[in-house]
Amino acid sequence: MKHTKYISMENIKAGMVTAAPVYVRNEEGRHLMLVKQGTALTDLIIGRLYRYHVTLVAVFSDEPAAALPLSKIKPIISENLATEALGGLQDLFSVAAGSKVTTAHRAVRQLDDVVDQLVETVSHEAGGLVHISHLKSHDDYTYHHSLSVAVLSIAIGRTMRLKKCELRELGRAAIMHDIGKILVPTDILNKPGKLTDTEFEIIKEHSAKGAAYLKKEGIGNSAMWDAIYAHHEKMDGTGYPSGLKGGEIPFFARIITVADVYDAVTSYRPYRGPMSPSVAFELLMSNADRAFEYNVVKAFAKSVEFYPIGAVLSISNGRIGMVVDNVNALRPTLRMLDNGEIVNLVHSDNLHLMIEDAN
Ligand SMILES: [Fe+2]
Repeated sequence: MKHTKYISMENIKAGMVTAAPVYVRNEEGRHLMLVKQGTALTDLIIGRLYRYHVTLVAVFSDEPAAALPLSKIKPIISENLATEALGGLQDLFSVAAGSKVTTAHRAVRQLDDVVDQLVETVSHEAGGLVHISHLKSHDDYTYHHSLSVAVLSIAIGRTMRLKKCELRELGRAAIMHDIGKILVPTDILNKPGKLTDTEFEIIKEHSAKGAAYLKKEGIGNSAMWDAIYAHHEKMDGTGYPSGLKGGEIPFFARIITVADVYDAVTSYRPYRGPMSPSVAFELLMSNADRAFEYNVVKAFAKSVEFYPIGAVLSISNGRIGMVVDNVNALRPTLRMLDNGEIVNLVHSDNLHLMIEDAN
């Protein structure tokens, strides 16, 4: 059985295979993936790791790690439920553009069932906090993103004291919020480079097109269509498609947009590394009332566990640690993987350290 082991640079050898991608920062401070997961290291790659001052690399090993096992994050939703959700989303996204409407309806029924279970799971979560760390995947971004947005939206809704029937309605809109992307040409949707203005305008049609599609097929109700239609509107009226302002934006859409942006910026994308949860939260807070509703952002902060126990983080001094305490939600305490030292990020000696990556 293969285990993941963090190896310091002096013990790295050619032939070792990376168990996680290695990210570095470029001059503009942006995260770049230097080495992909599953890469057999060569002397050339090792030289590059040295040049970028990488200190630890996760590699596969036949030996169990002597230190604590890595990333022992307790999942919020079971593997079965996640599989059911991802299957339903895959079905829905693959049929929506075609003509097999019955298949779409079947996928929607499966997703309805998933959302019911999500509402129950989130409602029973002790401590009231959810996290989406275990839903992060480098593959199938759209499906994982849709599921994460549903989990986060339901959690925010619960904090805002919505009734269970409202949470179900919110969850359904959230899990299908980007369904309109299936109606956007794939060459534009998956274009790796910068989009032209025209292409961006076409992508922006996905929210209105998604709502219209579901309405045409008789899937959902007007609350769902309105929420999906408006999930890119902003509080100051600069969003799309209608430039709605403040209270004109349906309440569910004001929740979904916060969940959507948080999950998008904390996810790995081929053209950029993920933002750390604390930086992502700063982004939400600093845009409260301009883009997002302040009360929703506040509820979001009360609903989410940013750094769950067992998460592995890299910090700005190049070291890597596992979260062992997160009473301070945005400044957790870590056990360092290289020497077992306990580092409390709220301690005055450590305030200069920033969390850079959360794996
Ligand atoms: Fe969207």
